[in-house]
Amino acid sequence: MSFSRQIKIAPSILSADFADFGREIRAIEDQGADWVHVDVMDGHFVPNLTFGPPAVKAFRPHVKTVMDVHLMIAPVDPYIEAFAEAGADIITAHVEAGPHIHRTLQAIRAAGARPGVALNPGTPAEAVEHVLDLVDLVLVMTVNPGFGGQKFIASQIEKIRRLRTMIGDREIHLEVDGGVTPETAPLVARAGADALVAGSAVFKGGTADNPAPYGENIRAIRNAAETATARAA
Ligand code: DX5
Ligand code: ZN
Repeated sequence: MSFSRQIKIAPSILSADFADFGREIRAIEDQGADWVHVDVMDGHFVPNLTFGPPAVKAFRPHVKTVMDVHLMIAPVDPYIEAFAEAGADIITAHVEAGPHIHRTLQAIRAAGARPGVALNPGTPAEAVEHVLDLVDLVLVMTVNPGFGGQKFIASQIEKIRRLRTMIGDREIHLEVDGGVTPETAPLVARAGADALVAGSAVFKGGTADNPAPYGENIRAIRNAAETATARAA
Protein backbone atom coordinates (compact mmCIF):
# COMPACT_ATOMS: atom_id res chain seq x y z
CA MET A 1 0.00 0.00 0.00
CA SER A 2 1.87 3.12 -1.21
CA PHE A 3 1.70 6.19 1.04
CA SER A 4 -0.59 9.09 0.13
CA ARG A 5 -1.93 12.05 2.12
CA GLN A 6 -5.05 12.06 -0.04
CA ILE A 7 -8.19 12.26 2.11
CA LYS A 8 -9.38 8.77 3.16
CA ILE A 9 -12.81 8.07 4.65
CA ALA A 10 -12.88 5.26 7.24
CA PRO A 11 -16.48 4.47 8.31
CA SER A 12 -16.65 3.07 11.85
CA ILE A 13 -18.72 -0.11 12.04
CA LEU A 14 -19.64 0.80 15.62
CA SER A 15 -22.58 2.56 13.93
CA ALA A 16 -23.41 -0.41 11.68
CA ASP A 17 -26.12 -3.04 12.21
CA PHE A 18 -24.49 -5.39 14.75
CA ALA A 19 -26.59 -8.24 13.38
CA ASP A 20 -25.29 -7.77 9.82
CA PHE A 21 -21.59 -6.85 9.81
CA GLY A 22 -20.62 -8.78 6.66
CA ARG A 23 -23.21 -7.09 4.48
CA GLU A 24 -22.64 -3.69 6.12
CA ILE A 25 -18.88 -3.88 5.46
CA ARG A 26 -19.44 -4.82 1.81
CA ALA A 27 -22.03 -2.03 1.49
CA ILE A 28 -19.77 0.77 2.78
CA GLU A 29 -16.87 -0.41 0.60
CA ASP A 30 -19.15 -0.58 -2.44
CA GLN A 31 -20.30 2.95 -1.57
CA GLY A 32 -16.79 4.40 -1.51
CA ALA A 33 -15.19 3.72 1.90
CA ASP A 34 -11.38 3.78 1.71
CA TRP A 35 -10.83 1.92 5.00
CA VAL A 36 -13.06 0.03 7.44
CA HIS A 37 -12.63 1.32 11.01
CA VAL A 38 -13.17 -1.40 13.64
CA ASP A 39 -13.74 -0.12 17.19
CA VAL A 40 -12.63 -2.71 19.76
CA MET A 41 -13.80 -1.82 23.28
CA ASP A 42 -13.18 -3.79 26.50
CA GLY A 43 -15.53 -2.17 29.03
CA HIS A 44 -12.44 -1.25 31.12
CA PHE A 45 -10.38 1.30 29.15
CA VAL A 46 -13.69 2.71 27.85
CA PRO A 47 -17.23 2.36 29.29
CA ASN A 48 -18.48 0.16 26.46
CA LEU A 49 -17.90 -3.37 25.18
CA THR A 50 -17.94 -4.37 21.51
CA PHE A 51 -16.01 -7.31 20.03
CA GLY A 52 -12.66 -9.12 20.04
CA PRO A 53 -10.33 -11.13 17.78
CA PRO A 54 -12.93 -13.77 16.76
CA ALA A 55 -15.22 -11.05 15.40
CA VAL A 56 -12.34 -9.29 13.64
CA LYS A 57 -11.42 -12.65 12.05
CA ALA A 58 -15.04 -13.01 10.86
CA PHE A 59 -14.98 -9.49 9.37
CA ARG A 60 -11.70 -10.11 7.51
CA PRO A 61 -13.05 -11.94 4.38
CA HIS A 62 -15.57 -9.11 3.81
CA VAL A 63 -12.96 -6.31 3.89
CA LYS A 64 -11.38 -5.64 0.51
CA THR A 65 -9.75 -2.32 1.45
CA VAL A 66 -7.94 -1.78 4.78
CA MET A 67 -9.07 -3.09 8.18
CA ASP A 68 -8.19 -0.22 10.53
CA VAL A 69 -8.49 -1.71 14.04
CA HIS A 70 -8.77 0.81 16.91
CA LEU A 71 -8.00 -0.90 20.23
CA MET A 72 -9.73 0.88 23.10
CA ILE A 73 -8.47 -1.76 25.51
CA ALA A 74 -6.01 -1.97 28.43
CA PRO A 75 -3.74 -3.85 28.64
CA VAL A 76 -3.01 -4.12 24.92
CA ASP A 77 0.06 -6.38 24.74
CA PRO A 78 -1.64 -9.72 25.56
CA TYR A 79 -3.96 -9.29 22.54
CA ILE A 80 -1.65 -7.99 19.80
CA GLU A 81 -0.88 -11.40 18.32
CA ALA A 82 -4.56 -12.37 18.25
CA PHE A 83 -5.63 -9.19 16.40
CA ALA A 84 -2.76 -9.51 13.94
CA GLU A 85 -3.66 -13.19 13.37
CA ALA A 86 -7.30 -12.15 12.89
CA GLY A 87 -6.17 -10.09 9.91
CA ALA A 88 -6.02 -6.48 11.14
CA ASP A 89 -4.03 -4.33 8.68
CA ILE A 90 -3.57 -1.41 11.07
CA ILE A 91 -3.60 -1.92 14.84
CA THR A 92 -3.87 1.30 16.85
CA ALA A 93 -3.15 1.33 20.60
CA HIS A 94 -3.91 4.17 23.00
CA VAL A 95 -0.89 5.90 24.52
CA GLU A 96 -2.91 5.99 27.79
CA ALA A 97 -3.47 2.20 27.81
CA GLY A 98 -0.31 1.31 29.69
CA PRO A 99 3.20 2.31 30.77
CA HIS A 100 5.09 0.78 27.81
CA ILE A 101 3.66 2.24 24.58
CA HIS A 102 7.11 2.09 22.92
CA ARG A 103 7.29 -1.66 23.42
CA THR A 104 3.61 -2.12 22.44
CA LEU A 105 4.15 -0.40 19.11
CA GLN A 106 7.28 -2.48 18.44
CA ALA A 107 5.26 -5.61 19.20
CA ILE A 108 2.47 -4.60 16.77
CA ARG A 109 5.02 -4.18 13.96
CA ALA A 110 6.72 -7.47 14.91
CA ALA A 111 3.33 -9.21 14.73
CA GLY A 112 3.03 -8.10 11.08
CA ALA A 113 0.49 -5.28 11.42
CA ARG A 114 1.00 -1.54 10.81
CA PRO A 115 1.21 0.26 14.18
CA GLY A 116 -0.89 3.28 15.10
CA VAL A 117 -0.94 5.31 18.31
CA ALA A 118 -4.09 7.06 19.58
CA LEU A 119 -4.51 10.04 21.92
CA ASN A 120 -7.59 10.82 24.02
CA PRO A 121 -8.78 14.45 24.15
CA GLY A 122 -6.97 15.14 27.44
CA THR A 123 -3.60 13.85 26.22
CA PRO A 124 -1.10 16.35 24.79
CA ALA A 125 0.48 15.83 21.35
CA GLU A 126 3.92 15.64 23.03
CA ALA A 127 2.89 12.28 24.55
CA VAL A 128 3.70 10.58 21.23
CA GLU A 129 6.78 12.62 20.34
CA HIS A 130 9.19 9.76 21.15
CA VAL A 131 7.32 7.02 19.26
CA LEU A 132 6.69 8.76 15.93
CA ASP A 133 9.46 6.71 14.33
CA LEU A 134 7.64 3.50 15.32
CA VAL A 135 4.22 4.22 13.78
CA ASP A 136 2.45 4.43 10.43
CA LEU A 137 -0.54 6.31 11.91
CA VAL A 138 -1.42 8.76 14.68
CA LEU A 139 -5.08 8.85 15.73
CA VAL A 140 -6.51 11.95 17.42
CA MET A 141 -9.76 11.35 19.30
CA THR A 142 -12.17 14.25 18.86
CA VAL A 143 -14.64 12.67 21.30
CA ASN A 144 -14.08 10.82 24.57
CA PRO A 145 -13.95 7.21 23.35
CA GLY A 146 -16.69 4.67 23.94
CA PHE A 147 -19.64 5.68 21.81
CA GLY A 148 -20.69 6.90 18.39
CA GLY A 149 -22.85 9.95 17.81
CA GLN A 150 -21.09 12.27 20.27
CA LYS A 151 -20.31 15.98 19.83
CA PHE A 152 -17.01 16.97 18.17
CA ILE A 153 -14.49 18.47 20.64
CA ALA A 154 -13.15 21.52 18.78
CA SER A 155 -10.22 22.06 21.16
CA GLN A 156 -8.51 19.09 19.44
CA ILE A 157 -8.01 21.03 16.20
CA GLU A 158 -4.92 22.74 17.60
CA LYS A 159 -3.55 19.33 18.63
CA ILE A 160 -4.07 18.01 15.07
CA ARG A 161 -2.17 21.00 13.70
CA ARG A 162 0.66 20.44 16.23
CA LEU A 163 0.91 16.74 15.37
CA ARG A 164 0.97 17.52 11.64
CA THR A 165 4.02 19.70 12.30
CA MET A 166 5.66 17.08 14.54
CA ILE A 167 5.15 14.38 11.88
CA GLY A 168 6.90 16.50 9.25
CA ASP A 169 7.56 14.52 6.07
CA ARG A 170 7.44 11.13 7.75
CA GLU A 171 5.05 8.74 5.95
CA ILE A 172 2.57 8.74 8.83
CA HIS A 173 -1.22 9.03 8.42
CA LEU A 174 -2.94 11.53 10.70
CA GLU A 175 -6.37 10.08 11.51
CA VAL A 176 -9.22 11.86 13.33
CA ASP A 177 -11.99 9.98 15.08
CA GLY A 178 -15.21 11.22 16.64
CA GLY A 179 -17.95 13.63 15.58
CA VAL A 180 -16.65 13.85 12.00
CA THR A 181 -19.37 15.24 9.71
CA PRO A 182 -19.42 17.36 6.52
CA GLU A 183 -19.35 20.36 8.91
CA THR A 184 -16.34 19.29 11.00
CA ALA A 185 -14.37 17.50 8.24
CA PRO A 186 -13.06 20.77 6.72
CA LEU A 187 -11.73 21.87 10.14
CA VAL A 188 -9.68 18.70 10.71
CA ALA A 189 -8.55 18.40 7.07
CA ARG A 190 -7.27 21.99 7.08
CA ALA A 191 -5.42 21.19 10.34
CA GLY A 192 -3.63 18.33 8.57
CA ALA A 193 -5.72 15.16 8.98
CA ASP A 194 -5.73 12.78 5.99
CA ALA A 195 -7.81 9.88 7.40
CA LEU A 196 -11.29 10.69 8.69
CA VAL A 197 -13.24 8.17 10.78
CA ALA A 198 -17.00 8.64 10.73
CA GLY A 199 -19.66 6.37 12.19
CA SER A 200 -23.02 8.03 12.65
CA ALA A 201 -22.40 10.53 9.81
CA VAL A 202 -21.86 7.67 7.33
CA PHE A 203 -24.48 5.13 8.47
CA LYS A 204 -27.34 7.59 9.03
CA GLY A 205 -30.32 7.14 6.71
CA GLY A 206 -29.16 3.90 5.09
CA THR A 207 -29.17 0.13 5.59
CA ALA A 208 -27.31 -2.76 3.96
CA ASP A 209 -30.47 -3.19 1.83
CA ASN A 210 -30.58 0.53 1.02
CA PRO A 211 -26.89 1.56 0.95
CA ALA A 212 -27.18 4.63 -1.31
CA PRO A 213 -27.27 7.03 1.68
CA TYR A 214 -23.92 5.56 2.81
CA GLY A 215 -22.41 6.69 -0.50
CA GLU A 216 -24.03 10.13 -0.31
CA ASN A 217 -22.76 10.56 3.26
CA ILE A 218 -19.22 9.42 2.38
CA ARG A 219 -19.10 11.75 -0.61
CA ALA A 220 -20.40 14.69 1.47
CA ILE A 221 -17.63 14.22 4.05
CA ARG A 222 -14.92 13.67 1.43
CA ASN A 223 -15.98 16.64 -0.72
CA ALA A 224 -16.13 18.95 2.31
CA ALA A 225 -12.62 17.92 3.37
CA GLU A 226 -11.13 18.09 -0.13
CA THR A 227 -12.69 21.46 -0.88
CA ALA A 228 -11.29 22.87 2.34
CA THR A 229 -7.77 21.59 1.67
CA ALA A 230 -7.85 22.70 -1.98
CA ARG A 231 -8.78 26.22 -0.86
CA ALA A 232 -6.06 26.19 1.82
CA ALA A 233 -3.39 25.05 -0.66
C1 DX5 B 1 -15.57 6.19 19.60
C2 DX5 B 1 -15.01 5.46 18.40
C3 DX5 B 1 -15.30 6.20 17.14
C4 DX5 B 1 -16.79 6.33 16.88
C5 DX5 B 1 -17.04 7.40 15.87
O1 DX5 B 1 -15.04 5.62 20.76
O2 DX5 B 1 -13.61 5.30 18.50
O3 DX5 B 1 -14.68 5.54 16.04
O4 DX5 B 1 -17.30 5.10 16.42
O5 DX5 B 1 -18.43 7.56 15.80
P1 DX5 B 1 -19.04 8.98 15.33
O6 DX5 B 1 -18.44 9.24 13.96
O7 DX5 B 1 -20.51 8.74 15.29
O8 DX5 B 1 -18.59 10.01 16.33
ZN1 ZN C 1 -12.49 4.54 16.63
